[in-house]
Amino acid sequence: MDKKLKLAVIGKPITHSKSPKIHQDFANQFDEKIEFRKDEVAPDKLETWLADFFKDGGKGVSITLPLKEAALKYADEISDRARLASACNVIYAKDEKLIADCTDGVGLTKDLEENLKVSLKDKKILILGAGGAARGIIPSIIEKNPARLKIANRTESKALLLKENLESKVNLNETDIIFEAGDLSDDFLLDDSYDLVINSTSVSTQVGESMGLPKALYSGTKLAYDLFYSAEKTVFMQEALENGAEKVSDGWGMLVEQGAESFRLWTNLIPDTSRLLEKPID
Ligand code: ATR
Repeated sequence: MDKKLKLAVIGKPITHSKSPKIHQDFANQFDEKIEFRKDEVAPDKLETWLADFFKDGGKGVSITLPLKEAALKYADEISDRARLASACNVIYAKDEKLIADCTDGVGLTKDLEENLKVSLKDKKILILGAGGAARGIIPSIIEKNPARLKIANRTESKALLLKENLESKVNLNETDIIFEAGDLSDDFLLDDSYDLVINSTSVSTQVGESMGLPKALYSGTKLAYDLFYSAEKTVFMQEALENGAEKVSDGWGMLVEQGAESFRLWTNLIPDTSRLLEKPID
């Protein structure tokens, strides 16, 4: 009898996670038999859940909010990518050890450069928000050598925390990096024009809320990208289009690409993402 590969996604909430369907699609491409659990796990239950899952023969787990930082504590080894992001979105068993890794950043840059054909080198990029989602993607963006990266956050303390965290870990010399704080509707966002505007705030997850970004922000913007996946266009995307952005995208492609990279870590197989990218699943 074929043994199924034991995989899972955990977080809280977790009901709407598309990970089981994404990984089933990948597994089908190779006739790989998987059993993919979707478990709601609160931070205080994380240690026990991970211990039980891997003791029971689990191979890999996708980790989502609010567990991405806490999960680092329970791995035997932390990859460079996860160390730079101070967070992990995957833990897997390899040679009797648990390895934590972060595939979010590479998921985003693959979606931007390979799927959406927006290269980052020498570009001017604005990231809105300085929370966990921003921290996960910034090292991968810096690696692509943009000309300028501005990180704008509503609250100054969070912007400074991210700045300190990055300065201690990443070589920031090549790119002109600016951290600024203020009301995102203010003109401090208009000091330059940006090829790419990325929304990493949690505003999209709150249905219908506008950040009140200045309308002139999008003159010269080739792509406005929302990190969050949504079946409908998010308010951020709608406003960007109305105000002159050439193109908008939600984070579906990033979700699929980070999943493909996680699947590769678990199986050594590189799935084809094109079918999923074309047709978001219900
Ligand atoms: P995540 O891990 O999803 O990034 P987080 O760490 O709580 O979540 O960060 C949420 C981000 O969204 C923060 O940058 C937050 O800004 P503050 O630091 O000022 O709280 C940002 N955010 C949430 N709601 C916002 C709003 N209405 N307007 C602007 N920024 C908002």
